[in-house]
Amino acid sequence: MQPLGLGIVGYGGFGEFTAKAYAHMPQVRIVAITDVDATRRNAAASTYHATAYETYEQLLADPAVEIVVINTPPWLHAAQAQQAALAGKHIFLEKPLAIDLAEADNLLAILQERQVHLGIDYVLRHVPIYNILQQLTSSKLLGEITYLRLENVASNEALHGDHWFWKRQYSGGIFIEHGVHFFDLCNQLSQSLPGDISAYAHTGSDGRQDRVMANVAYNNGILASFYHAFDRPAILEQTVLHVTMEHGTAVVTGWIPDRLEIEGTLSRERYDELSNLLGVELKVTSVPAPEGITGATAGELVMAQVTREDRTADYTQAVTIGLSEFIHSIQDHNYQPQVSLQDSYSSFRLAYRAQQSIDQGHSLVY
Ligand SMILES: NC(=O)c1ccc[n+]([C@@H]2O[C@H](COP(=O)([O-])OP(=O)(O)OC[C@H]3O[C@@H](n4cnc5c(N)ncnc54)[C@H](O)[C@@H]3O)[C@@H](O)[C@H]2O)c1
Repeated sequence: MQPLGLGIVGYGGFGEFTAKAYAHMPQVRIVAITDVDATRRNAAASTYHATAYETYEQLLADPAVEIVVINTPPWLHAAQAQQAALAGKHIFLEKPLAIDLAEADNLLAILQERQVHLGIDYVLRHVPIYNILQQLTSSKLLGEITYLRLENVASNEALHGDHWFWKRQYSGGIFIEHGVHFFDLCNQLSQSLPGDISAYAHTGSDGRQDRVMANVAYNNGILASFYHAFDRPAILEQTVLHVTMEHGTAVVTGWIPDRLEIEGTLSRERYDELSNLLGVELKVTSVPAPEGITGATAGELVMAQVTREDRTADYTQAVTIGLSEFIHSIQDHNYQPQVSLQDSYSSFRLAYRAQQSIDQGHSLVY
């Protein structure tokens, strides 16, 4: 099969990272690039032997462009995706889907009318540790999920004072620009949709909303808590997702995670199943019944740790899996990609409603 032609709009930090990954994929060829920064678009076009277009409209008019890859800042996403759809192109879009709910709804209607596909680059869906976590929670080996808790403290060092990230009219705010990754992940883990949302923010003296948190009650009873802060140096960055289940806990560490630790109890007959699922040996410890608690029993505690060596390689691979899945869904209408359009909409809607909860100062229904 002939490789599909990619037209890239926005060749900033992430555009460059993803283009490097796409350049190794046999299913695609980078044929066109546009960026308002002429130096960047020309350099990129020369690297990939592609055409540099001064305007997005010119890129859309190029018949060699079959999929438009949108890597611009969030406020442009919905409008540029809409333009691509009207030009009959499929769209692989960086998160978020939009920064406003009405524009997201409008875009979905146009996609439907024009019968073009849109995929969102939710990289966390395609990294090995989260894939294992997903299998673990679906297997119910440690029971049902009861509680999800994310703490994501990130660096603000690269986000200089007038960066678009801090301006709500350009980024949508931290939940929409960034938290949406984890809303998507936790929606998937919970296999449910949010019911009630209650969110809060800290605003610094410079007016930046730099810390946000949301509590979410899922319709199936799972409770979740999400905290994001962009307030520290990179060497202090930390991302931890705790997944509490009826019979144990899983803790995932790292933005692109490199560690999964589990601890729990399950029947001995299922030890092999758990070990095979995780791909590591289990450590089993006999624990005596705690003293002084009437009815408490002795048991065996099972522990395991899964680690990954190379986060950059996992990140790059996640980017290529995301695009490969999207292409598969274009070519085979029966193929269900891991991230459906409805999933992308649901996580965006949750992020949007969380930001609204902050703005309105009360909890909201999803
Ligand atoms: N999935 C992920 O892991 C991940 C990671 C980082 C960033 N992102 C997303 O990627 C997108 C881009 O982020 P970034 O960090 O690369 O930002 P950036 O500011 O580094 O790059 C944006 C680029 O878009 C260009 N641009 C701006 N307006 C344009 C226009 N009208 N037409 C064409 N080009 C235009 C800019 O010149 C710049 O080169 C954002 O939506 C961000 O959320 C995703």
